[in-house]
Amino acid sequence: MGQAPCRYDPRVDLIERLRGIVGNSHCLTDATLRAGYETDWTRRFNGEALAVVRPGSADEVGAVLRACAEARVGVVPQGGNTGLVGGSVPRGGEVVLSTLRLASIEDFDAAAGEVTVGAGATLASVQAAAESAGWAVGVDLGARDSASIGGMVATNAGGANVLRHGPMRQQLLGFEAVRADGSVLLRLPGMPKDNTGYDLAGLLAGSEGTLAVLTRVRLRLVPRLAQRAVAVVGFADATTAVGAATQLRRELGSVLALELFTDDGLVLVMRHARVAPPFAERRPVYLLVEVGSDVADPTDDLVVALDALGTDAAAAAVATDPGGRHRLWQLRERHTEAVNAEGVPHKLDVSVPLARYAELIERAPGVVAAVDPAARTFSYGHVGDGNVHVNVLGPAPDDEAVDDAVLGLVLELGGSVSAEHGIGVAKVAWLVRDRGETTVAAMRAIKDAWDPAGILNPGVLFAPHS
Ligand code: FAD
Ligand code: MLT
Ligand code: ZN
Repeated sequence: MGQAPCRYDPRVDLIERLRGIVGNSHCLTDATLRAGYETDWTRRFNGEALAVVRPGSADEVGAVLRACAEARVGVVPQGGNTGLVGGSVPRGGEVVLSTLRLASIEDFDAAAGEVTVGAGATLASVQAAAESAGWAVGVDLGARDSASIGGMVATNAGGANVLRHGPMRQQLLGFEAVRADGSVLLRLPGMPKDNTGYDLAGLLAGSEGTLAVLTRVRLRLVPRLAQRAVAVVGFADATTAVGAATQLRRELGSVLALELFTDDGLVLVMRHARVAPPFAERRPVYLLVEVGSDVADPTDDLVVALDALGTDAAAAAVATDPGGRHRLWQLRERHTEAVNAEGVPHKLDVSVPLARYAELIERAPGVVAAVDPAARTFSYGHVGDGNVHVNVLGPAPDDEAVDDAVLGLVLELGGSVSAEHGIGVAKVAWLVRDRGETTVAAMRAIKDAWDPAGILNPGVLFAPHS
């Protein structure tokens, strides 16, 4: 009997190297331990990882990237895994690099209102640290307990307060990031004024893990607003609600958030989150407005502005105490989980010029029904900055006909196919249709220069090189 041939498997060799870098307990190969890292929040996207590694320092991240580059194995950076476009989970055979252990909060400058945090720190943990010193984080979103600061920078997350403070890119003062070859880019602490060549921090914001792995971030903080008020107001249609939002934004300097949702979304939220309606009467469309100030109570101005709109008192609720404000916010924030509880959604996060916002809300169900009459459409969003979240339930996860129909409508209305969630793997085919061949070729040239072997998040933003 001859001896069995000795087969060299480079993947086994890579796993051994990874264990040596991060330690056995932080290199997960067992299927049950990997599972939570392999499926995205919506359950629409999933894939098997070769391994999940959880490095504890930028040096370990560099060593992991070098080992994967030598083995020609792709790496999927992952923070809180709350991304909604499939960019944080493997497509099949990659190494997932989780930043969860890089969660330090360091170098808090309470005088300047700046802080350096590990990429894996959750938004909620940074908010708590900032608030204890009288500051706040400029970006806030419903996934705050899990979303990581690194993931938020990598997606250039937006959320509810963009109209006041801008998205994550505008909170960024400095960064530490590891490139595909393991080299470390460092610009910490970073300066509010810093015209020393290309804005690499700005480039990494929104790069979705395709250019480098962020390991630390320097954030600018914003003053914590002690005085706040929230109102929910019902309207007969989207056009009137958007008109009201525009007027409130123009007239109230204290506006922090302007959010829109519809009555069928409210019904879902009431059912799944077990919350009460804002008032007894029902209306087809609702506007949530939040105002905040650190000098004077903004409630009176809000009430006067709502009166000036001719708001029907039977379809309006105002809250100033923390519990009441929270209850009203739940009606908008819990749409994501309520939709998810009904099925696997097609999530179409888009922007349109404000003048076309109501038209998108009104036409989206029709374009969806034209390709899938049984599908259900739920639209809500950050009306203050033109961002609509069109959610479609019904079509199979890999059936892209409704995605095509809605994104086609968005381009017809002069919008963008991704407002705040990114391209991920969900919208790769749509990047060229939105930005055009020349722009996407320029983006691809940057990708090829930074990551010539294409190991960082292959399949995200661009189709793989053929
Ligand atoms: P992940 O999901 O882990 O990753 C997202 C992307 O970033 C992936 O491409 C990944 O590869 C990359 N990445 C992660 N960490 C790093 C890193 N350190 N370096 C390089 N690349 C990295 N988004 C909004 O913009 N606004 C909202 O209002 C909003 N609300 C949400 C509400 C809910 C309930 C949920 C579930 C999600 C919501 N999101 C929202 C989407 C999501 O929370 C954001 O996209 C968030 O920024 C993702 O952070 P994360 O740490 O979970 O990233
Ligand atoms: C939101 O604004 O609620 C989030 O972006 C998540 C979603 O689109 O459901
Ligand atoms: Zn959103």
